Amino acid sequence: MTVSEHHSSRPQAEGDGAAEAPVFTARKNGQEQTVSEELADWMRTGWADTESRDPQPIEQAAYTAKRREALSARFPGERLVVPAGNLKTRSNDTEYPFRPSCDYVYLSGDQSDDGCLVLEPRSGGGHDATVYLRPRSNRDNGEFWLDGHGELWSGRRHSLAESAQRLGLQAHDVRRLPEVLSEAPEVPVRILRGHDASLEEVVGGLRAQSADSAETAAERDEELAVALHDQRLVKDEWEVAQLQSAVDATVLGFGDVAEALPQARATSERYIEGTFFLRARVEGNDVGYGTIAASGPNSTTLHWMRNDGPVREGELLLLDAGVETTTLYTADVTRTLPVSGRFTPLQRRVYDLVYAAQEAAIAALAPGRPFTEYHRVAQRTLAEGLVEWGLLEGPVDRVVELGLQRRYTLHGTGHMLGLDVHDCAKARTETHLYGDLRPGMVLTVEPGLYFQPDDLTVPEELRGIGVRIEDDVLVTSEGNRVLSAGLPRTADDVEAWLAQRLP
Ligand code: GLY
Ligand code: MN
Ligand code: MN
Repeated sequence: MTVSEHHSSRPQAEGDGAAEAPVFTARKNGQEQTVSEELADWMRTGWADTESRDPQPIEQAAYTAKRREALSARFPGERLVVPAGNLKTRSNDTEYPFRPSCDYVYLSGDQSDDGCLVLEPRSGGGHDATVYLRPRSNRDNGEFWLDGHGELWSGRRHSLAESAQRLGLQAHDVRRLPEVLSEAPEVPVRILRGHDASLEEVVGGLRAQSADSAETAAERDEELAVALHDQRLVKDEWEVAQLQSAVDATVLGFGDVAEALPQARATSERYIEGTFFLRARVEGNDVGYGTIAASGPNSTTLHWMRNDGPVREGELLLLDAGVETTTLYTADVTRTLPVSGRFTPLQRRVYDLVYAAQEAAIAALAPGRPFTEYHRVAQRTLAEGLVEWGLLEGPVDRVVELGLQRRYTLHGTGHMLGLDVHDCAKARTETHLYGDLRPGMVLTVEPGLYFQPDDLTVPEELRGIGVRIEDDVLVTSEGNRVLSAGLPRTADDVEAWLAQRLP
């Protein structure tokens, strides 16, 4: 947003008899603001110099530099534009909390709205990286305090010099970016779409001068998006540490929830959601996705996020929640807990089968193994149990071939995890869904069984039971490491863990 201002000596409305008074006018959120020249002058002065002369580089600066190098090698001679995105209006002058695009964070370590990273090809090969940012608010033109996005309202920003130091990047004023891009329109360009419509328009304008059709341009941009997700499939050691820290905070949040079960019983699932959220905000940035706090029959609704149901003695509570770190990496963990502290024999039976499927799936995670395999073994284990219970008619091979168990298993066994909860979704199928596991990949392992309350194909006592166990697992060079091992997984361990926390 820009601040338009007028200094004027404007007569008051004719006939009101007032003397002419100097006024300062600015626009804030579309509304004209008029303040006296005296106040405007006064607000320009009397501020201390707060420039930090020696800001510390962010921890991940060395890693973001390597990531940019890898991307640079993939697109020689091309200009790459990776926007952070803009604030989104919720209503009037209120915005949603801002979350920058993951690829921008991955490559820059920065989280500023309106930011943009540009990799500019060098003539001798490689790229120069520059981050374009909003500079500090101008105090002379009133932007600082009269614009709703000025620093007086939204907090101090880093100066461009500070950002350059912190991020290990050249930093320039983002308002100059359209002009900078226009200076060399002949350089082939790719932009990461879906985050900044005005920058896409600028790039589109430049492309209008090239031979690229709109379709070719869209394909080239998609190649950039795919390349970034491909690259993000394997986490570097700093990212693994972030994910571990997201999981550690999540473990604490699950402990908080266990202790809060009596209050949840007296209120609703919202108490669970709120309890976890408190931990997420204190330890990290936020929750990494909408918390699923599903008690009783709600546990059979996969994306139960209304969280407004009761939490009753004797029911199972399925809690699927993850803390997102301040660096924006998220955990994704599920535990299914007996609200009263002990599983009924039937609940335990369902739980044990899901646990067996999870154990089999975790054992299938090792470098060189196909990504599809852990899903296959989990589904097979669940199908075997369902046939044994008489819920499905065997043989198991037929059940699995036709996918009949899916009536009760419903979803895949897991996904990549990182800056996004469902990370790297655009990665090429040959490196991801039909690829082999590599050390540094982090995945969720989350089999489940869900018997809908109105499913007449299962005995009545099973209806309304939903169980999922979800852990976050790192593929290592030797096999794998369960990052969320701080939480109990077996039914016995869950009961013992609850016993320590329930009053
Ligand atoms: N929390 C969403 C998922 O488990 O994929
Ligand atoms: Mn989950
Ligand atoms: Mn998940």
